[in-house]
Amino acid sequence: MLNCLGRLEYRGYDSCGVAVSSSGIEVYKDVVRVEALKKALPRVSGTVGIGHTRWATHGEPSQVNAHPHCDCHGSIAVVHNGIINNFQRLKRQLISEGHNFVSETDTEVIPHLIEKYYHGNLEEAVEAALHDVEGSYAIIATRAGEPKLVAARKDSPLIIGIGDRENFIASDVPAILDYTDRVIYLEDGDIGVVTSDTIKIRSDGIEVTRGEHKILWSVEDAQKAGYEHFMLKEIHEQPKVIRDTLGEYAQATEPVVDLEVMRDEGIESMLILACGTSYHAALVGKYIVEELLRIPVRAEIASEFNYYPQTLARTAAIVITQSGETADTLKAIGRLKEVGCRVVAITNVVGSSASRIADQTIYTRAGPEISVAATKSFVAQLMVLYWLALSYSKAGVRRLESLSMGLRQLPSKVQQVLDDEDIIREYADYLSGYEDVFFIGRGINFPVALEGALKLKEISYIHAEGYAAGELKHGPFALLGSDTPVIAIVAQDSTYEAMLTNIKEVKARGSPVIALAGEGDEAIGELADSVITVPQVDALFSPVVNTVVLQLLAYYTAKQRGCSIDFPRNLAKSVTVE
Ligand code: F6R
Repeated sequence: MLNCLGRLEYRGYDSCGVAVSSSGIEVYKDVVRVEALKKALPRVSGTVGIGHTRWATHGEPSQVNAHPHCDCHGSIAVVHNGIINNFQRLKRQLISEGHNFVSETDTEVIPHLIEKYYHGNLEEAVEAALHDVEGSYAIIATRAGEPKLVAARKDSPLIIGIGDRENFIASDVPAILDYTDRVIYLEDGDIGVVTSDTIKIRSDGIEVTRGEHKILWSVEDAQKAGYEHFMLKEIHEQPKVIRDTLGEYAQATEPVVDLEVMRDEGIESMLILACGTSYHAALVGKYIVEELLRIPVRAEIASEFNYYPQTLARTAAIVITQSGETADTLKAIGRLKEVGCRVVAITNVVGSSASRIADQTIYTRAGPEISVAATKSFVAQLMVLYWLALSYSKAGVRRLESLSMGLRQLPSKVQQVLDDEDIIREYADYLSGYEDVFFIGRGINFPVALEGALKLKEISYIHAEGYAAGELKHGPFALLGSDTPVIAIVAQDSTYEAMLTNIKEVKARGSPVIALAGEGDEAIGELADSVITVPQVDALFSPVVNTVVLQLLAYYTAKQRGCSIDFPRNLAKSVTVE
C-alpha cells in the first residue's frame, strides 16, 4: 500500500497517512512524505488498508488534518479527494447529535455520517452518507472487522485494479501498475464494494457492470529510468512523444477523429478552454488555427469562462487538459454542453473524466506525466493542435507540404536542443542568482513567454513574469534594471523587427538580455548580452523548440537552487477542486 501511495505522491504531498483494518483500525499519519512514513511505521498486520497523500484545501497541512479520518469510535476510516461544499452545515448537525470532530477538514464529516447511518451494512451506510453530501468526492471507506473496501465517486477519479487474489482501488493508474494492468474506471454515482476476490459495483441501488481496460503503459513508463528527476526524464522524452502523437494521427489515412464541428460550414469561430500550461497550449493553438483555418479563435482560462454568460452560436469548442480531471475544465465542459456546444477534449489520460463527458476525445500520446510541472504533455497538446489545423487547413498545397515536412522534422530539432543542454545549464547557473526574471515574446511566442515564466516560477520559486514584448513599456519597465534579467524569445516571423526594437528598449533600461534566436540570426547577437541558439524551424513550430529550451532552463535553475523539482511546494499534479 505504501508503494502504491508513493506512486501517487505527485497528486498531493503535503502530508500522508494509512489505516490498516483487522479486528480494529490502526491509523498512522503525519506531515511527511511517503518515504518518511514508511520508515516511521511500526509493524502492522491486516489484509485491508487505505492510504492517502494530501493536498490541503480545508485546514493547513498537519497531522490531525491528514487522512485517513475516522468516526467517533475509530472503527470507520475514510480517505477522500475532492471538496464537500456543505460540510459546515453537516458538521454543525453532527456535533449537535453528539459527534466529536478533531480536524479542520471537510472530509471528517464523511466517517461521522457513515457512523450515523451504519446499521450493519457498510455499503448502505456509505450510500446514505453520500446522499447528505454536496460537492465532489472520490472516497474509500473501511470498517474494523469487515475485510472489504467501499469506494464511491462523484466528479473525482477513481479506478479499481483487478489483481490476482487481491484487488486495488486508487485515484490514478500509476498507483497499481506494479501489481496489475487490468483496470475498471468507476463512473459518477458508482459505489464499488471490493474484497480480495470480489468486485461489485452499484449505481442508483442497482448492480451494474463496468468494462475492464488493459493499461498499455508499463511500470517503467512511470519510473525515472536513471534520470535524477521525472521532469528531466519527461523533457527528454519529447522527441518520442512528438513521434508517438503524430504517428497516431498525422499518418492515419482517415481522420482518426472526425471533427464534424470543423467540417461544418456553419462554424464561424472556435473557443479553446484550459488551465495553466494547457491554457498556454490553447493560446498557441489560437495562432495556429487562425493562421491555418482563417477563423477567429478565443482561448480562455476555464475558471474565468465558468462565471460569465456566454454567446457561443456557431462556435466549435475544444478543451485541453493533460489529466482530464481539472475541476475548472470539467465544469467548463458542462457549461459548454448546457448551451448546446459539441465539445472536443484533448487529454492525455484514457478514461479520464474529460474523455467521458466530452463528445469527442483526442488523446495525446505523452505517456504518464509524473512531474508536477507539465512538459511533455504541453508539447503533445501542440502536436494535436498542429495536426488538427493542418487536416482542416485552407492553406495552399505548397505551404501545407512544407509544414507537413516541418512537423516530421520536429523530433530531430527537439533532439538537437536536448543535445545542447549543457549550454542551457550555464545560463541556468547564471539565472539562479536572481529573484526576478521577465520572459518576453510576440505573436505565437507570447504564450511561450508565459509558459517559460510559469515553469521557472513553479519549480525554482524565482518570481517570473511572462509578457507580450510590446506591453513592457506600459508599466513593467518600472521594474527593469541590472538585477532583472529579461529572456527574449525571438522568432523569424512578422514580429521580428518589432522584437529587436523591444530588446533595445529593455537594454536601455539596464536589464541583461538573454535571447532565444534561430540559427544564423546575426543581428540578435549584436543586441542581446547573450544568445541561446535554437534549431531553425518554420515560425509556426518555433513554440516547440523554444519551449523545450525554457523547460531545461527552469529545470537546471531549480536544480542549482536546490529545489524540490518534481514536487514543488503548495502544488499538486491534478487540481480536482475549483
Ligand atoms: C504547470 C501545470 C499546471 C497544469 C494545470 C492544468 O506546469 O502543470 O499549470 O497545466 O493545472 O492541468 P491539466 O492540463 O491536467 O488540466
